[in-house]
Amino acid sequence: MPLPHPPLNPYVPQALGHLPEWGAAPLPLLDAGAAAARAEGLDVFALQLGQPAVVGFSPEWNRALLSDLSTFRSRGSFSSLVPYLNGGVIVTDTPEHAQRRGTLNPGFSRAALSGLTAALRQSLPHFPAGPTDALAWADETVRHLLNVAYFAGEFDDALLSRFLGPLRRPFPAPMLPRPATLAAVRRELLRLGRTRSKHPRPDLLSTLIRQPGWMEDARVSLAAAHDTTTHALAYAVWELAQAPQWHTPEQHPAVIKEVLRLYPPGWMGSRRLRRDLAWRGRTLPAGTLALYSTYLTHRDPALWADPNTFRPERWAHKPPAWAYLSSFRV
Ligand code: HEM
Repeated sequence: MPLPHPPLNPYVPQALGHLPEWGAAPLPLLDAGAAAARAEGLDVFALQLGQPAVVGFSPEWNRALLSDLSTFRSRGSFSSLVPYLNGGVIVTDTPEHAQRRGTLNPGFSRAALSGLTAALRQSLPHFPAGPTDALAWADETVRHLLNVAYFAGEFDDALLSRFLGPLRRPFPAPMLPRPATLAAVRRELLRLGRTRSKHPRPDLLSTLIRQPGWMEDARVSLAAAHDTTTHALAYAVWELAQAPQWHTPEQHPAVIKEVLRLYPPGWMGSRRLRRDLAWRGRTLPAGTLALYSTYLTHRDPALWADPNTFRPERWAHKPPAWAYLSSFRV
């Protein structure tokens, strides 16, 4: 029996499937898919994204997709289609993945990062007084902080801005090839990497260059770090402007958790099915693009009380397992 799916727009050519909505307004599309799935008592629905795709949103689906590493593979996932993310640890599968993370993790440990805190604090741009565009401020701020953390502030800022800009725009902007920009980024990384191989600086690049394949991981993690942190920071500023009673250092952890729940920057993630999978009485064929939706899980009324409301106080209690997908410790 075919999986339920959100309605197809009768005014677009059939071959495009759900792609136009995916580009223009993916969240309403996901809501419509979840409604169609729930109507059949399911936690998965189908999408046509130029190729067959399936989206799941229950904790059970999240757990399967994120922990059954031999069925759900990273190679061939959405990241492989985005030139920014197609490389390094993100598209590496088990068993090489654990090995690669093992060499990268020490550079990102709490102890290693604590050496950067003073430089980051010092270079934190001032928050403007009066009405402010939170997204524009967060964008500049995060780019600047990443430059300091990765490159001691020495990466060409105009190039960094050109490189990261498309990541904040809707599909298909991040998927378009930008060979000239990527080549310029590689040259800049090589220039900075060479100087560090002789004279290490207090930055992440000095650690990263010790790993094989460092240039790819530096480029990809830089891209992964930018729009995620920018949007989280912008939403935090926006919510705190409306609820200033939460703006105290003690309450910030709950604020950040709630921001990442309500506005998850990684609103979906994907894998590729390596074999046929039996799920809820249906067969999902090998080769299908398998998606999880952090957005749907984080706003599921079966998992969260009053899910669409910003309520940091909910973090006094732990959420159910696999209902909250964030690297932030809960
Ligand atoms: C609020 C900020 C962030 C959010 C919400 C976020 C979210 C995520 C999510 C959901 C994944 C898992 C994707 C998947 O496996 O399907 C991921 C992976 C990753 N993120 Fe982030 N991220 C954030 C910040 C950062 C930063 C600051 C960096 C780098 C300094 C970074 C680098 C990476 C890398 C390298 C991966 C791939 C890890 C692997 O495959 O082992 N992210 N991120």
